[in-house]
Amino acid sequence: MSTVVELCSVFFTYGCHPVLDEVNLQVNSGDVVGITGPNGAGKTTILKLILGQLQPQKGKVNIFGMDSMAFKERFRLGYISQNARFFNKSFPATSREVVASGRVPARGILRRLRKEDYKVVDEALDTVGMLNMSHHMVGNMSGGQQQKILLARALAAKPQLLIMDEPTAGLDVSGRHELYRILSELNSEKGVTLMLVSHDVEEVSPLLTKQVCLDRKLCFCQKKLSDTGKQSNEACSKRLAMV
Ligand SMILES: Nc1ncnc2c1ncn2[C@@H]1O[C@H](COP(=O)(O)OP(=O)(O)OP(=O)(O)O)[C@@H](O)[C@H]1O
Ligand SMILES: [Mg+2]
Repeated sequence: MSTVVELCSVFFTYGCHPVLDEVNLQVNSGDVVGITGPNGAGKTTILKLILGQLQPQKGKVNIFGMDSMAFKERFRLGYISQNARFFNKSFPATSREVVASGRVPARGILRRLRKEDYKVVDEALDTVGMLNMSHHMVGNMSGGQQQKILLARALAAKPQLLIMDEPTAGLDVSGRHELYRILSELNSEKGVTLMLVSHDVEEVSPLLTKQVCLDRKLCFCQKKLSDTGKQSNEACSKRLAMV
């Protein structure tokens, strides 16, 4: 089992506003890690540190064994940012074109996509159940459909690690269950390591191998085994109730 992400004694501050302090986290290949915590706790910040978009003032952030700032193989990562959906109504692209843009990091920015790339694109659309809408304009799609297209776009890069910041925000119950089903299959059948920020502590729990609670400065991690999942959840909820 290899280490995919490692944070060691991470301290991060925006100016004089400390957000993370002494944060330690290890994500192994095949893990499904849920990050919960109140608004402003630093969940998005931790993802940006892992993605190399921010640099810690103290401590280390490694991804696939490399310093996150020096990591170049971006195609190994999929990322869906918070509030990524909501395309403008007149956004001039079909869902297939949006998903195809996800192939660019893997293919190279100046290279034309090939037939085999479009095969991967159609597979990604199929995985999220949107192949039949591949020629629809994304701007005309519902929020839930747009979220699936963004997931397909991330999958088109064939990532080994998929990072999602509140992917179920705005989805109804069936949309959330559908997304969790897709993520569960991706993890069990394709071995994709998953990290997701979510406020649905209870709902997301069955999917997780590890649960992380952030309360601005403290990060703690609990390995969630099926028979201890409830206790882990309760501990997390209690911890969150305290902040
Ligand atoms: N670019 C920035 N400059 C200054 N402060 C920032 C910046 N980005 C975030 N912050 C602050 O850092 C803290 C953590 O923000 P972050 O976005 O990581 O929280 P979060 O846990 O993702 O919250 P939410 O659940 O609302 O998405 C917040 O207090 C926020 O106001
Ligand atoms: Mg956030």
